[in-house]
Amino acid sequence: MKIHIKSPGRINLIGEHTDYNGGYVLPCAIDLSIDLFFEKKSIESYVETDLGYSMAFDVSTAYKKSDNHWENYVLGVVNELKKIKSELSNFSCVIKSSLPAGAGISSSSALVCGLIKGLSNLNEINLNNYEIIDISRNVEHKYIGVLGGIMDQFTILNAKKNMAILLNCENLESEFIKLGLQQYKLLLLDTNVKHNLANTDYNQRVSECKESLQIINKFSKKKYSNLSEVNKIQISLSKEKLGKTLYKRVSYVLNENKRVIDSVKFLENNKLKEFGQLMYESHFGLKNDYEVSCKELDFLVEYTINYDEILGSRMMGGGFGGCTLSLIKDSFIIEFIELIKKEYFSKFKNKLNPIIANLDQGIQMSLI
Ligand code: GLA
Repeated sequence: MKIHIKSPGRINLIGEHTDYNGGYVLPCAIDLSIDLFFEKKSIESYVETDLGYSMAFDVSTAYKKSDNHWENYVLGVVNELKKIKSELSNFSCVIKSSLPAGAGISSSSALVCGLIKGLSNLNEINLNNYEIIDISRNVEHKYIGVLGGIMDQFTILNAKKNMAILLNCENLESEFIKLGLQQYKLLLLDTNVKHNLANTDYNQRVSECKESLQIINKFSKKKYSNLSEVNKIQISLSKEKLGKTLYKRVSYVLNENKRVIDSVKFLENNKLKEFGQLMYESHFGLKNDYEVSCKELDFLVEYTINYDEILGSRMMGGGFGGCTLSLIKDSFIIEFIELIKKEYFSKFKNKLNPIIANLDQGIQMSLI
């Protein structure tokens, strides 16, 4: 018996860098995925990917960490599952992917969630989605070195086709929002500037937010548990103590949370133009206040402003590379892609990878 897991990538309509601040996000799963095929083996475990990587090891003596970055995805999951059931079976796993890595569409969490889902089922470990999220977060924090939030995992595990998830990352309360995009589509433009978030300032942003929270709590004598609980007045009162940089970070988080809630209202009332404006605002917040964009992302977003057929655009995901997300009229996509590819190449001597984001359901498991 083989187990097939189809673990999708995700996009995020709006609400960036809010998840680890206990804020709101509005993600959806897409039809690009990592597919993993598992089978029990008696002697040795073997994992191979269509990128040409492979590894062999015995689960009972699996080492803790490898110098080979990608192997830590597998080792991390095996080691975390062994804490729940010490005697795991050896296995083979063949991994195929249509999800570009480092593009900001969550190939990392798709891989980790896929490995957890497959290996837990192969070993008859019963895990609910919250437990999978916890294990996945541990693996990404401890083995991959990215101190990310839970937006990606929650989306991969829970998404429904053609729906966005309004998720409160503090208490994990969520609501499905039906997306009626009329004659518009969601277009991803992958800069091909590869970001490995573990080597970027992503973790620094996480610690800047923690530091800001400590300052605000100390100054206000309150016990806010995350930045999303802090109100505008409190932030203004703490402005001097925070200093210029932290004040910008905190203000961004507050504004972005409001943009998510406003976006939901606009989307529910088919006000796509207004939602598009918020996408631009989100981008400029990420660029100027949160400082996680890069020149390629800025160029792509700013270029779209010239076209009435494009209602909104912004960098998406962790930043420092990866892709932009734009809301574009269906009939204009082909023409625009031709245009922007040429412009991008002549400016950055790099290839642009356009992807039309078709919304899909969350992780799927089947026996074959
Ligand atoms: C990455 C992380 C997420 C989230 C986004 C930014 O994708 O994995 O948890 O923080 O960046 O919104």
